[in-house]
Amino acid sequence: MRQPIQLADPIPQFGSLVQLRAKLHGDGCQRCTLGFQPEINGCCVSRGDISGNTRRMIIGEAPGKEEDAKRSPFTGPAGRLMDDIFRCVGLEPERDFYLGNVVKCRPYLPKGSGKENFTPKVEQQKLCRPFIDQEIRILQPKLIVLLGKIAVENVLPELKGQTMGSLRGRVIKKEDITYFIMIHPAAILHASRDPDLELQYKQQTWDDIRALKILMEKE
Ligand code: URA
Repeated sequence: MRQPIQLADPIPQFGSLVQLRAKLHGDGCQRCTLGFQPEINGCCVSRGDISGNTRRMIIGEAPGKEEDAKRSPFTGPAGRLMDDIFRCVGLEPERDFYLGNVVKCRPYLPKGSGKENFTPKVEQQKLCRPFIDQEIRILQPKLIVLLGKIAVENVLPELKGQTMGSLRGRVIKKEDITYFIMIHPAAILHASRDPDLELQYKQQTWDDIRALKILMEKE
């Protein structure tokens, strides 16, 4: 019988990323309301370098519809765009990074509400935070790429309140980890309604991915 992790439970201390994913995918988690949504399949923890050998991570916001269906982060439209962006400079997210999200369950919006997902609430982000902490503890990344504002504000809360315009492209070194901030690919997709904004995001992302490649070459 499945035993989802409850808010009152101590968070299990996992020995590996494989164990962490197996527990969350197998038993699930009900620490926050997202884990109680009947419409979703459950936690969707990681994809890519689960061995942790690369010591690099990409952290996004939350799984969407396709990610929830496949139980695999960044496998929907934003993930496919991310793959294309990284491939432009010879990087392969699946091979070169461990891929995960601030929030492990899809923040689902009921049909008819106009949108498919909502931005995870601060409380939901907070309750999921111990899992990212463990992912970082186990993986011991030397590089973390943060995609979008939610990832930045969750992982580097001291940067809260700054605009993505001022954050993107920044390299931050903290406690032996280098952080690199990029515009979330979903923001580029959403900007397609505004051609000027879309062009701006694409140009900035092109600059940023080349800067990331250079940063990785110096590793
Ligand atoms: N898919 C993910 O897994 N994370 C995001 O942030 C967006 C899409």
